[in-house]
Amino acid sequence: MAIDYSQLIPNNVDLSSDRRLQRALENWQPRFLDWWKDMGPDGTSSFDVYLRTAISTDANGWANFGHVKMPDYRWGIFLADRDPDRVIAYGDDKGKPVWQDVPGELRTTLRRLIVTQGDTEPASVEQQRLLGKTAPSLYDLRNLFQINVEEGRHLWAMVYLLHAHFGRDGREEAEAMLERHSGDPDKPRILGAFNEETPDWLSFFMFTFFTDRDGKYQLASLAESGFDPLSRTCRFMLTEEAHHMFVGETGVSRILQRTCELMKEHKTDDVRTLGGIDLPTMQKYLNFHFSVSLDLFGQEASTNAANYYTQGVKGRFLETRIDDDHVLTGTSYEIETVEDGRIVRKSVPALSALNERLRQDYIEDCARGVLRWNKMIEKAGIDFEMKLPHRGFDRRIGGFAGARVSPDGRLLSEAEWAANESKWLPTDEDRAYVTSLMGPAVIEPGKYANWIAPPARGINGQPVDFDYVRFN
Ligand SMILES: [Fe+2]
Ligand SMILES: [Fe+2]
Repeated sequence: MAIDYSQLIPNNVDLSSDRRLQRALENWQPRFLDWWKDMGPDGTSSFDVYLRTAISTDANGWANFGHVKMPDYRWGIFLADRDPDRVIAYGDDKGKPVWQDVPGELRTTLRRLIVTQGDTEPASVEQQRLLGKTAPSLYDLRNLFQINVEEGRHLWAMVYLLHAHFGRDGREEAEAMLERHSGDPDKPRILGAFNEETPDWLSFFMFTFFTDRDGKYQLASLAESGFDPLSRTCRFMLTEEAHHMFVGETGVSRILQRTCELMKEHKTDDVRTLGGIDLPTMQKYLNFHFSVSLDLFGQEASTNAANYYTQGVKGRFLETRIDDDHVLTGTSYEIETVEDGRIVRKSVPALSALNERLRQDYIEDCARGVLRWNKMIEKAGIDFEMKLPHRGFDRRIGGFAGARVSPDGRLLSEAEWAANESKWLPTDEDRAYVTSLMGPAVIEPGKYANWIAPPARGINGQPVDFDYVRFN
């Protein structure tokens, strides 16, 4: 269904046919805009940014690019088309038609899932609000802002569901989305990774590669939900999310490329003297962002995860493409955990291991990106390999929480950990160095900061020296 942009709130859900809902969302809209003004990208309201706006939710829906002031971006409600034949693909209700409304007994569960997902969206905008001041190029600045406006739209996506399907509770939750803030000691965001700072562009690229990718996996499993409006919302969000991960992967890749160039040109590993980011520092940032993101998947063995699945609320990644019974009551799954001072593998009921299974899908996806980085490093003639650390490395949640595990998966004593931690995780000095590279934003079209290579190509067929952001 095409998106109606003639409305105050652009949408493809025929919002004007439900006056109460329309009014409620029109009441929330100015509060969202106030939040954007206070907590969104700092000092940017007059910038004209080359942004894409969805004009429909089908494959050609991204045709619309143009310079827009971000507060004028048309945030709205876009759901993928409804499939009238869609049935629940798994769990107790497998084969039954999907729900267009929330089943009473699943109200609390679905609300919690939607609120948890929704909370991450504005959180990342808050985390990234100062990055524009140190952008390494106009191209990168534009990509940052594109991600920011789309995370804002993802908040709209979840708030729409809350307003449309959860009555007064939903409206209250929608308000609370704008009241919690990333890193706020009194009212923090719900999940740990979304209260961490994103203080520099290396962190930003690592975040969009690793943490936005967690988003991809959560959205993909919610896209399998028996609650059809949630599924349709997530399906469209996933098309937006793909660009965020592209920004992360290519951003890291361009830093690696620049580092390799400096190493070759000056025949040295010590690129810090040349204003580059050395490969061991890149690895440490990778370690940090990977382990923080792994925590987002939750406990390895979880009755909540089992219930979500059995109840048809949250499926597996690409559920319908998996060749099994989609009920999982008789099957088991192997997980790794710490027991009696050792890392062990053990079988647990497959239903309870669904978080771990999703984490595994995620790890394999991350590994494919790391492989592409390594190909680039190899092609540049440098002998170095970026590696994902072991899943137990530096974890806060699950069976590895509190254990000291090396990147190659050995259980360590506290003393061994302490002796090596500075080799594995960014130190204050590393962070200070990376921060020191973040000079004032590079705003001349076609110019790039010294520590990052230009992209291979521009956005939407535009040249790399295009004026992606215009300052007024
Ligand atoms: Fe998002
Ligand atoms: Fe994202």
